[in-house]
Amino acid sequence: MRRFAVLASGRGSNLEALLATVSSEDFPGRICVVASNKPKARALDVATEHGIPTAVLSHKGYARRRDYDADLVRLLQAYRPDWILLAGFMRVLTPTFLDAFGGRVLNIHPSLLPAFPGLNAQQQALDAGASESGCTVHLVDAGTDTGPILAQAVVPVRPDDTEETLSTRILAAEHQLYPQVLRWVAENRVHVGEGWVTVDLPPGQARILRF
Ligand code: GAR
Repeated sequence: MRRFAVLASGRGSNLEALLATVSSEDFPGRICVVASNKPKARALDVATEHGIPTAVLSHKGYARRRDYDADLVRLLQAYRPDWILLAGFMRVLTPTFLDAFGGRVLNIHPSLLPAFPGLNAQQQALDAGASESGCTVHLVDAGTDTGPILAQAVVPVRPDDTEETLSTRILAAEHQLYPQVLRWVAENRVHVGEGWVTVDLPPGQARILRF
């Protein structure tokens, strides 16, 4: 059984989608902890409602990112995770963190990377006049949203979209895409190397979903 740690800073809707998948009887893995840098993150309440252990490590008071990351590694290692899933974790991670988990760190980002990395990805898509946007699940490297891509979901951008309407459409796609990738990982279909990732796709599934 694969063990997954989830890191989240906010609302936790992706966490809820991941938990729904993990809860199904045939799922070969479990979420061993949900950790946050924000003591009031709703994601922590979601975890508690599901009986999942939670942990908080505030980033306040740390002068250096790598010191925070070293403490976060220590905290997570107590739960012996095989993979780390970022689900709205709004911090850039340093090699101190990434090396500790051998690159087995996944993130979901609300754009079709490499387009629109960083903050406010949905507004960036609107400002650029994009006709399509979506979300990406990728391996985390030391850059900002630059790691190897596992899967993407594409949604249309409509002429009357606001940041809110586009974000809602993308979020619905996130809730399909991330659980699908989680299952690939749990079923040992994802293979990670230095700067690359491959997926042995189950029959009928694709790395790009279109909505
Ligand atoms: C999601 O849209 C996720 O893609 C985004 O934060 C939101 C978290 O929502 N993540 C990033 O922008 C990371 N760069 P949630 O807390 O409801 O899952």
